[in-house]
Amino acid sequence: MGERAGLFDPIEIGGVRLRNRTLLPSMTTRLADDAGYVTDATLAYYRARAEGGVGLVTVEMASPEIAGKHRFRELGIYDDMFLPGLRRLVETVHEAGARASIQLGHGGSRARSAVSGTTPVAPSAVPTPVFEVESEIAVPEAMSPARIRETVDAYVAAAARAQRAGFDMVELHGAHGYLISQFLSPLENTRTDCYGGSLENRARFGLEILRRIKSEVPGLPVIFRIGVEDFFPGGLTADEGIQVGRWSERDGADAVSVTAGHYRSLPAAERMIPPMAYPAATFVEYAARMKRLVDVPVIGVGRLGDPDLAARAVADGKLDVVALGRPLIADPHWVVKAQAGAPVRRCLACNHCITNMRSGAQLSCVVNPATGRENVYAGTSAPQSRRIVVLGAGPAGLSYASLVAAGNDVTVIDKADRAGGAFRLTGLAPRFNDVAAAEPTFEAYIGELERACRLGGVRFRYGSEATGDDLRGADLVAVATGADYRFGLGAVVPRLLRTRAARSGAAARLFASARVRDSLYYRLRTGRGAALARRLPLEPGTEVLVLGDAARAGKAREAITSAFDAALAPRTHPAPTP
Ligand SMILES: Cc1cc2nc3c(=O)[nH]c(=O)nc-3n(C[C@H](O)[C@H](O)[C@H](O)COP(=O)(O)O)c2cc1C
Ligand code: SF4
Repeated sequence: MGERAGLFDPIEIGGVRLRNRTLLPSMTTRLADDAGYVTDATLAYYRARAEGGVGLVTVEMASPEIAGKHRFRELGIYDDMFLPGLRRLVETVHEAGARASIQLGHGGSRARSAVSGTTPVAPSAVPTPVFEVESEIAVPEAMSPARIRETVDAYVAAAARAQRAGFDMVELHGAHGYLISQFLSPLENTRTDCYGGSLENRARFGLEILRRIKSEVPGLPVIFRIGVEDFFPGGLTADEGIQVGRWSERDGADAVSVTAGHYRSLPAAERMIPPMAYPAATFVEYAARMKRLVDVPVIGVGRLGDPDLAARAVADGKLDVVALGRPLIADPHWVVKAQAGAPVRRCLACNHCITNMRSGAQLSCVVNPATGRENVYAGTSAPQSRRIVVLGAGPAGLSYASLVAAGNDVTVIDKADRAGGAFRLTGLAPRFNDVAAAEPTFEAYIGELERACRLGGVRFRYGSEATGDDLRGADLVAVATGADYRFGLGAVVPRLLRTRAARSGAAARLFASARVRDSLYYRLRTGRGAALARRLPLEPGTEVLVLGDAARAGKAREAITSAFDAALAPRTHPAPTP
């Protein structure tokens, strides 16, 4: 574990000590209620991450004024009425040993009036494509100097409110095309006054907010989150973004958080939240560049979910604190596990979480059905002292085995010669969900899940079907054998994938269609578990569970959810939060 050690050394931000160099970055969950109040689900979600060992929990983006509210069920901080809930949230995070921050972020032109109830405001009246449940082109109102002052005041008031709620620090959202970032990008800021034109002028709005908070809310550390590069013509360039980060240190930022990307990024907005085909540690060199130029701690983000990679980034001096966004959605216990050298449940970088959330749903995850439903599984536990045979080492079988490993005698049998099932093939498909598929992400997920099972004492047998002897004496057989293709496609589709033929020519064009993908992955497949279960040579009294055989056979998220539900017997009514 020595080589990972630096990641778990404490660090201070603005005099506040974090127990290690990991943080949960701001990620919208939609777990607040319709009015923006903290709910039991909000508390349970953040408690799980704090209990998982992270040093700093950044609570999701909350707008300092209602005009900046950009999502339904967005957490509120623009009024004192939110204070009681925010206080409970801070207490919950503190009780679990983490520090608490909250991101102050204003949607600007990306705050639909359907959400905020008012006309969006922005540096300039530049029509802006917005997607929040529905798509629209919003035309914001250009902010007058007086309106700018009003918004800056609102930021200061929100920061003071955060301090009253007990937050250890706040973060200013200066990235991704929200208000501060809109001021920074020449395409979205065409002003001719002191807030537009030169970089110094475009940076004025964000830095003014920072300076005012530092002088008017004493004792509250501020992290400045800067999207250093926008990736579109007329967007902020990397040299400019780095310069703004340096100015933020000059103007009092206690740490600089380095990210990149914007809703207008080319080839796509996904660059903000890089999916699986992007290189791991996507933005680390931006952080390294910033680190050479500033003395305050630098926070890096973007596909740092491999614990060795995260630790190396710290050890190599590329950044001081590792932000783990999707990795902590996929496994809230990433930090304690990585510290112990244990495998973590690896995020696929499939971006279901963000795509689904932007479409209106609460935060959820393909590989971790407990995300956003922490209370549903609260206090539940797996059966004990049973002899369990799991048939199938795909994502559902492995998830189930990993969850029941402790306290049971578990064997996984798969007729293939290794774990992963059809899920490995998914890495060879052109797309998974709405992102380009990449094999290593599936390999890492399956590999680490199998390793977790083995460490938990699970035995594996590959290369042959289960026999009566294998099942003799079993208390429970969990059938997780995945799905078969109908109409003889079982021979065709895997060959298309294995030969990479699906990634070129007409086949690639076909796979580009979500409808075709849906048919090929799910609609043309049928669960095979129930039929197999009927044929198994079982002794009387052996319980049988069929996992992942639901209507949408072959769909990883549903299959993994069925494994969690079978292992942990979720509550029909979520547990109340104490
Ligand atoms: C569901 C979701 C919601 C997000 N919401 C925010 C947000 O409100 N503010 C923000 O600055 N970044 C947001 N992000 C971006 C993350 O903070 C992070 O920069 C990004 O996910 C890349 O890091 P990762 O590879 O560790 O996930 C969001 C990401 C996800 C997946
Ligand atoms: S939904 Fe996909 S990208 Fe999001 S956290 Fe889960 S595995 Fe990672």
